[in-house]
Amino acid sequence: MHYSGNMKKVLLTGGLGYIGSHVAVELIKQGHDIVIIDDLSNSEYTVLGRLSELTGTEIYFELGDVRDIDFLKGVFQRYEIENVIHLAAKKAVGESVNKPLHYYDINVSGLINLLKVLEDHQAKKFVFSSSCTVYGQPEFLPVTESTPFGDTPSPYGKTKQMCEQILGSVAKVARYEVVSLRYFNPVGAHHSSKIGELPKGVPNNLVPFITQTGAGLRDQLKVFGGDYDTPDGTAIRDYIHVVDLASAHVKALKVDLGPYTALNLGTGRGYSVLEVIKAFEEVADMKLNYSIVDRRVGDLPEIYGDPSMAYKKLRWKAELGLTDMMRDAWKWQQGLAK
Ligand SMILES: NC(=O)c1ccc[n+]([C@@H]2O[C@H](COP(=O)([O-])OP(=O)(O)OC[C@H]3O[C@@H](n4cnc5c(N)ncnc54)[C@H](O)[C@@H]3O)[C@@H](O)[C@H]2O)c1
Repeated sequence: MHYSGNMKKVLLTGGLGYIGSHVAVELIKQGHDIVIIDDLSNSEYTVLGRLSELTGTEIYFELGDVRDIDFLKGVFQRYEIENVIHLAAKKAVGESVNKPLHYYDINVSGLINLLKVLEDHQAKKFVFSSSCTVYGQPEFLPVTESTPFGDTPSPYGKTKQMCEQILGSVAKVARYEVVSLRYFNPVGAHHSSKIGELPKGVPNNLVPFITQTGAGLRDQLKVFGGDYDTPDGTAIRDYIHVVDLASAHVKALKVDLGPYTALNLGTGRGYSVLEVIKAFEEVADMKLNYSIVDRRVGDLPEIYGDPSMAYKKLRWKAELGLTDMMRDAWKWQQGLAK
C-alpha cells in the first residue's frame, strides 16, 4: 500500500461527494497525495473505503465543517498542503430558495474561511467548483468565459457568482493562482461502479431520476416543459461525464495559468431531455415511463458552453459521450440495488 506521510498534498474539500470522489480517483491515478475534508452532510463515510479499494491507496480523511475555522487551521498544521480543490458546498437550487442563509453560510462563509487560513500558508493553486448557473439565461449560445454573469434567481446561483467575485479580488493579492471551473451538467459514474451520485431523497437532477425510474424506484419521470423553443420542445443542457470533469481538475493543477482563470467545463454540445431519455432507453434496453408536464419555475430553456478555452489552457477536452454517460449512470444505479 502506498503511504507517504511527508509528501505535499492536495486538499479536497467535499471530497467524499459525487464530484469530489471522482476528482480524488483521478488525482491519485496521476500520483498526487490527497487529504479529504468532508462533514458527511451529503455523503457517506463508506465512500472513503471505496476510494481506497479503487486506488489501492491510503487516503487521509478529516471529518469536519469548512465553516469551522479552527478545524481548518488544524488540518493545515497537520499536513503540508500544496494545492486546494474546494468542492464542499450545498448545491440544490430549489432548496436554496427556502434556505438562503444556509446556502450563503456554507458556500460563501465556507470559502472565506478557507481563504483566510490560506493567508498563513504557502499554496500554489486554489481550484474552485463553480457552475454554469453564473451565466443565468444568456443572450447568446454557446456561452464563453467572457459571457457576463446573468440574473440567476436562486440563492445557490448567487453564491457561485459571489464566490467567483471574492476569488477574483483575492487572486490580485494572493501568492497562489486561482482557477474557477464552471461545470455544466455532470452526470454518469466511475466505470468501476464503486463511486457515483448518491442523491438523498427525491433527486433534483434528470439523470438520477431517469435511472431510479428505470430501476422501478420511481413510478414515472416527469419531463418539465414540452413547449420550449427547442427542436423537440424539451429543455437543453450540456451534459458532461463526471470522470471527464474530474480529469480537468488534475490538469488545472499542472499548468501555470496566472492569477485568476475561469474555465467552462462541458462538452460544447447540448442535448434535450428527450434525447437523454432515448440514449438511456437504448443503453438499458427498456422503455421509460415518462410524461411531459408543465415547465418548472426557474428552469432555463437551453444552455450549453464553449469549452475551447479549457482546451487552449489545459489541453483538456471531454472524451466521453452521452451513451457512455448513460451506460455508467445505469450500471451505478443497478449496483446500488445489490
Ligand atoms: N453536481 C452538479 O450538478 C454541480 C454542477 C455545478 C457545480 N457543482 C458544484 O460542485 C461541487 C461538488 O458538487 P457535488 O455534486 O459533488 O455535490 P455533493 O453534495 O455530492 O458533494 C459535496 C460534498 O461536500 C460536503 N459538504 C457540504 N457542506 C460541507 C461543509 N460545510 N463542510 C464540509 N463538507 C461539506 C458534502 O457532505 C458532500 O460530500 C459543489 O460546490 C457544487 O456546487 C455541482
